[in-house]
Amino acid sequence: MVVRLAAALWPIAFLVRPAISAGYVTANSTTPVQNNPNCTCYVVESGDDSQTPQYFQYYRFYDFRNLADKAGEYLKTPAIVDDWDEAPNLDVGQPSILKSDAWNKDWNIQNWSKNASEDFPVRMVNSPANVYLQQNNDTNDAFTYLTLRTTRGNGFQSAAEIENLQKNVMHTSMRVSARVVGDKGAVAGFFTFYDDENESDIEILTDDPTDVIRYTNQPSVDKSGDEVAAASLTKTKLPAWNEWQKHRIDWLDKNSYWYLNDKQVAANTYSVPRKSSYLVINMWSDGGSWSGNMTEDGSAEFQIQWIEMTFNTSGKVEGDTSPDPNSKRAAELLDKRKDEKCKVVCKIDGVKELGTPEVVSSSMATRVSLSWCAVAVIGLTSLWVGL
Ligand SMILES: *[C@@H]1O[C@H](CO)[C@@H](O)[C@H](O)[C@H]1NC(C)=O
Ligand SMILES: *[C@@H]1O[C@H](CO)[C@@H](O)[C@H](O)[C@H]1NC(C)=O
Ligand SMILES: *[C@@H]1O[C@H](CO)[C@@H](O)[C@H](O)[C@H]1NC(C)=O
Ligand SMILES: *[C@@H]1O[C@H](CO)[C@@H](O)[C@H](O)[C@H]1NC(C)=O
Ligand SMILES: *[C@@H]1O[C@H](CO)[C@@H](O)[C@H](O)[C@H]1NC(C)=O
Ligand SMILES: *[C@@H]1O[C@H](CO)[C@@H](O)[C@H](O)[C@H]1NC(C)=O
Ligand SMILES: *[C@@H]1O[C@H](CO)[C@@H](O)[C@H](O)[C@H]1NC(C)=O
Ligand SMILES: *[C@@H]1O[C@H](CO)[C@@H](O)[C@H](O)[C@H]1NC(C)=O
Repeated sequence: MVVRLAAALWPIAFLVRPAISAGYVTANSTTPVQNNPNCTCYVVESGDDSQTPQYFQYYRFYDFRNLADKAGEYLKTPAIVDDWDEAPNLDVGQPSILKSDAWNKDWNIQNWSKNASEDFPVRMVNSPANVYLQQNNDTNDAFTYLTLRTTRGNGFQSAAEIENLQKNVMHTSMRVSARVVGDKGAVAGFFTFYDDENESDIEILTDDPTDVIRYTNQPSVDKSGDEVAAASLTKTKLPAWNEWQKHRIDWLDKNSYWYLNDKQVAANTYSVPRKSSYLVINMWSDGGSWSGNMTEDGSAEFQIQWIEMTFNTSGKVEGDTSPDPNSKRAAELLDKRKDEKCKVVCKIDGVKELGTPEVVSSSMATRVSLSWCAVAVIGLTSLWVGL
């Protein structure tokens, strides 16, 4: 069940245009609505009992649900990518949105490729043409979503990958509302990445039954090429991944926790990443034993309604302050928040409007701000002042 909410959410909200067709209810999207500018930190419940509060400094909500002017606007699926040489230079589905300044501020669409090898017998190229918007084909519920596609055409695999540009994330709780559809032999990935040994994954393999998801901290293979049993947790009897579900990774100091629709489904202490990382989302296949083979002319899609992340960084928050120098983000970039500490604690779960954090009760806020202050004093040099 898809809930459409009236919050046009930053920063993708820059892209959103007002709805025009009658009966097509959309967000008020003429203005980039800040999530909640009053929040100075965010709390989520996490941990083995799922009840330990974890605090983060930053918050982003990327909403792809309201990007159409009308129903029926984004129903066409682009043609299969079948020219290896052209693939890296093809255009995204909707350049006016997926190459806009607002998009480019936060995301990078990949076009790297890799040759076939013994272990991965199908050569693969990431093509921007596999990144496009689609729309629910129902005039009463014509929400849009971002699609990452992989196709097998003309003897090779074309894939899709996007990277978030906040590269120094150090611990996060990140979520995606997504489904995976299409042919067997593909992998949909939602993960934090620094290198092959600092990476925490959610992977959906279209070869798997729809109730199976893989939760992995890399490396999953040791130096001699053998599988590390503790690395990858295969969970079964989960809600079906070919329907819309909320997937979540909590990357904490010494623990990784994975959730599905707010229920913890996996936990690991093996190789919890220690390097600052960034969010990567991809859809791919290479004929290897993990992805399997897709049949010729096959195709599979990773479809995304929204992405939410709250996180800390290892240094200054990264990015570009234009075009809105007065925004909350600009303040973060300019580090104007260094004196604010964690005065106003907001929750991001169980809120009235998804993507709009809410200030938690004042008693809670007081209690938390006290403990945060203690932390802040210790952290002053490294965190807020050490620039
Ligand atoms: C939409 O946003 C504009 C600008 O913030 C505001 O003036 C207007 O009242 C809002 N409309 C609705 C229906 O919320
Ligand atoms: C932010 O705080 C101001 C001042 O207390 C209040 O008027 C406003 O409603 C708050 N905004 C939100 C989104 O909670
Ligand atoms: C995030 O940073 C704040 C301030 O340094 C710290 O108190 C908090 O514990 C950090 N959260 C996590 C999950 O590492
Ligand atoms: C959308 O729905 C209409 C009416 O059910 C149908 O005729 C049309 O083929 C559908 N289009 C797509 C792209 O699925
Ligand atoms: C990837 O795209 C960039 C432009 O965005 C282009 O300059 C580069 O040549 C492309 N890479 C390949 C391998 O074609
Ligand atoms: C793939 O192999 C070709 C021919 O050997 C070589 O020119 C090319 O650089 C290789 N590409 C990659 C991505 O390694
Ligand atoms: C993270 O990267 C460092 C340096 O590359 C490496 O020593 C370490 O084993 C990696 N993994 C973890 C979990 O620290
Ligand atoms: C995929 O197909 C190739 C032959 O095209 C084969 O060598 C390889 O073993 C297959 N991979 C899997 C996982 O079955």
